[in-house]
Amino acid sequence: MRKKYFLFGCVAASILFFSVNLVADDQCVSCHTNVVGDKPSELFKHDIHFKKGISCADCHGGNSKMEEMEAAMNPKEGYKGVPKGDAISQSCARCHSDADKMKKYGSTLPTNQWNNLQTSAHGKLSTTGKEHIAQCITCHNAHGIVSVKSPESPVYPLNVVKTCTKCHSSATFMRTYNPSLPIDQGEKYRSSVHGVKNGKGDPKPAVCSSCHGSHDIRTSKDAKSSVYAVNLPGTCSKCHSDAQYMKEYKIPTNQYEKYAKSVHGVALLQKHDVGAPSCNSCHGNHGATPPGVESVSKVCGTCHALNADLFSASPHKKAFDDRKLPECETCHSNHEIVAATDKLIGVTTEAVCSRCHQENQNPKGYAVAKAMRQMVDSLDISGSAAITLVNEAEQKGMEVTDAKFKLRDAKQAHLQMRTMVHAFNEGKFREVVDKGMEATLFAKTEAKDAVDEYYFRRIGLGISTLIMSLLAIVLFVYIRRIEKKQAEER
Ligand code: HEC
Ligand code: HEC
Ligand code: HEC
Ligand code: HEC
Ligand code: HEC
Ligand code: HEC
Ligand code: HEC
Ligand code: HEC
Ligand code: HEC
Ligand code: HEC
Ligand code: HEC
Repeated sequence: MRKKYFLFGCVAASILFFSVNLVADDQCVSCHTNVVGDKPSELFKHDIHFKKGISCADCHGGNSKMEEMEAAMNPKEGYKGVPKGDAISQSCARCHSDADKMKKYGSTLPTNQWNNLQTSAHGKLSTTGKEHIAQCITCHNAHGIVSVKSPESPVYPLNVVKTCTKCHSSATFMRTYNPSLPIDQGEKYRSSVHGVKNGKGDPKPAVCSSCHGSHDIRTSKDAKSSVYAVNLPGTCSKCHSDAQYMKEYKIPTNQYEKYAKSVHGVALLQKHDVGAPSCNSCHGNHGATPPGVESVSKVCGTCHALNADLFSASPHKKAFDDRKLPECETCHSNHEIVAATDKLIGVTTEAVCSRCHQENQNPKGYAVAKAMRQMVDSLDISGSAAITLVNEAEQKGMEVTDAKFKLRDAKQAHLQMRTMVHAFNEGKFREVVDKGMEATLFAKTEAKDAVDEYYFRRIGLGISTLIMSLLAIVLFVYIRRIEKKQAEER
């Protein structure tokens, strides 16, 4: 028992000895530690800078070897006092932007924080016009700074939401900068799948800085922003395509891969068509949740309004709702949506309809699907025939402007038909197809007439050439005769 106390005493004494010794080297720390209620020196004890042998004087200036306050905190010794405004970040940048200096402390951290901050949304001037919106200490504090990987850090995933929403959820603060900027990010985030898990202490789901970055935060309209539509899929996939990172959640990690190959992904990522949906168009920005069964058609419907309206009025609406089938996804999938083709209609194995409609299963729809297929085929055949004829007439140099207009109408009807499928109604579908058939018939008649006329003209030309030649011969013979007569008369 005594031995134990003795050992404990020894350990305690040596800890005390060493820490007093460390502090004793730095007069700023040692005197401030003795000032009752001195917060900075108290926080500084577990500061990463303190552990690296950095002194109060490295940020505040002054001479840390002097025991006397006036001597230590003497402007002649470089004492600068408490930095204000941009001088704060500049005092941090003295080391953090200087790779050589950081190397001397054995650090391999990046040295771009200050540079990035200047060009970020937070690098704009504050309302006073004298300093930038955010300083390093806004997110890291001034004293008691720890590694960003430590659960104590204000930028650790479980704390960073609070750090950002300090400003971003404050109506009074944000209004002075940009009244049109929403202030609901925190509130929405906490209701999302990411936020709920974060609230329960899981540091892995996305937090503000996973999507927006840290020092290089930009408005989403900036093409360099990590949340700019074209860049966002890459931002989400940092986690969602990382099978190792996502292992414990047991959800697929192929969303990006599938999305990138889909019509939407190709349009956005390759053609830079920002009208096509990025991940957040369907999942929301801050309420990032998978759209539920009813909300998914609303999401698709924000862009494909006509398809959604037709679907809602169709017999499938109730049939799908009853069976809890998602409205659009059931036929088009979600991440790997491919270009729709006519082949999807009908009762062959390629057709979507045949998945649920067979002769003995939901047979009414089977009959309709079959009828639709026939209509599509006849429109196709008639359309190709019309195109061939119009091309032929055109090659023969005939005037076919009207027929070409009708071809355009037929193409339009075909497009309308692709949308009209979603009414899943034979009558309505036929109406559109009939319009197309009518147009192709007109074009075919017109082109055929033009070709006929061409041949008619060719024959006409032949006959008239023949008549003219005959006339010329007759004339020639006649003239020769006259000449002969005159010669004989002389
Ligand atoms: C012998 C004691 C002593 C020493 C040594 C000392 N200080 Fe102080 N310091 C004080 C006291 C006392 C105050 C005033 C009380 C307060 O504001 O906390 C003060 C205030 C400060 C302030 C706040 C000034 C302000 O304008 O509000 C800073 C910054 C500071 N000290 C930094 C340093 C630095 C850096 C060093 C070392 C180079 C140092 N101090 C050394 C005792 C000391
Ligand atoms: C990494 C840089 C850094 C180090 C190291 C540092 N400070 Fe500071 N300190 C600051 C900054 C920046 C501010 C301004 C804080 C603000 O504006 O809120 C500040 C503010 C202060 C203030 C006045 C406001 C306050 O928070 O009470 C005192 C006093 C102070 N520091 C003392 C110290 C002492 C004593 C030490 C050493 C034990 C020390 N500082 C170490 C950066 C530093
Ligand atoms: C808007 C908040 C914010 C501001 C302002 C800010 N930081 Fe950070 N900082 C962060 C976040 C968030 C991280 C953590 C990034 C991560 O998790 O990888 C971070 C990480 C760091 C790191 C760790 C290495 C790295 O680059 O990831 C250092 C060092 C750092 N910041 C220094 C600074 C300095 C110096 C400044 C001022 C020039 C500054 N920070 C300003 C939010 C901020
Ligand atoms: C005298 C040089 C110096 C100054 C001044 C300085 N730092 Fe540091 N800082 C360092 C060193 C060295 C480290 C440790 C780096 C490492 O462990 O690789 C560090 C670490 C950090 C970290 C933790 C990074 C990590 O590993 O996650 C943050 C955050 C940080 N500093 C922020 C600041 C802020 C904010 C200021 C200004 C108020 C500041 N520093 C001023 C030298 C400095
Ligand atoms: C899962 C990724 C993700 C997370 C987590 C996230 N954001 Fe966003 N944030 C976005 C996207 C995407 C946009 C909007 C892009 C657009 O408008 O096209 C956005 C927009 C914003 C905007 C611009 C105004 C607005 O609401 O449209 C602010 C400010 C913002 N986020 C702050 C935050 C804050 C603060 C947090 C943490 C509480 C956070 N974000 C968490 C992805 C995210
Ligand atoms: C000191 C308060 C403050 C803190 C802390 C802060 N911000 Fe900001 N943030 C602002 C202000 C002010 C703006 C600029 C608004 C403007 O002028 O458009 C802004 C702009 C933004 C924007 C661009 C919004 C847009 O689309 O125009 C995003 C994104 C953003 N902040 C995210 C974050 C994230 C993420 C964090 C935490 C790591 C954070 N902010 C911490 C005050 C803050
Ligand atoms: C920092 C990593 C990270 C980033 C970045 C991230 N997520 Fe997540 N996300 C997660 C984790 C972890 C979960 C929790 C998985 C779970 O519980 O099923 C999750 C859950 C989800 C879910 C719910 C999945 C389900 O069915 O449970 C959706 C949807 C989602 N994220 C979409 C997105 C989108 C969209 C983005 C980009 C705007 C994004 N995430 C960015 C890590 C991330
Ligand atoms: C066109 C809309 C749309 C787009 C774009 C989209 N998603 Fe989804 N996502 C969905 C739907 C619908 C679901 C399934 C919801 C359900 O079944 O309840 C889903 C499900 C998810 C899930 C849950 C797990 C799973 O695979 O079912 C994650 C994670 C996810 N999406 C991430 C992403 C990411 C990351 C992107 C961008 C690369 C993205 N999504 C783009 C509509 C979309
Ligand atoms: C942000 C708007 C937007 C949202 C949301 C959206 N889409 Fe799209 N969609 C587009 C655009 C733009 C195209 C055209 C892409 C291209 O081919 O250039 C397209 C193409 C398509 C196509 C191929 C069309 C064709 O001509 O073959 C289908 C099918 C499709 N989307 C279905 C869906 C479904 C299902 C959803 C919901 C899960 C959805 N879309 C959500 C904008 C959107
Ligand atoms: C029962 C299956 C089915 C459902 C459910 C369905 N579609 Fe379709 N969709 C089709 C078929 C079949 C085509 C192909 C028509 C063609 O190319 O001839 C198509 C074509 C499309 C096209 C390309 C044609 C166009 O209109 O531009 C878009 C976009 C589209 N669907 C969106 C949606 C949306 C949005 C929903 C949900 C409201 C939805 N679809 C629900 C079967 C379906
Ligand atoms: C995911 C399964 C599913 C797919 C795919 C599907 N249907 Fe249906 N359809 C149903 C169900 C279930 C009903 C309701 C059947 C019932 O009540 O007898 C229905 C009903 C119908 C009806 C109304 C029948 C009536 O009783 O009036 C028509 C028409 C129809 N479908 C056509 C189609 C066509 C055309 C396609 C392909 C483009 C298609 N369906 C694809 C499941 C599906």
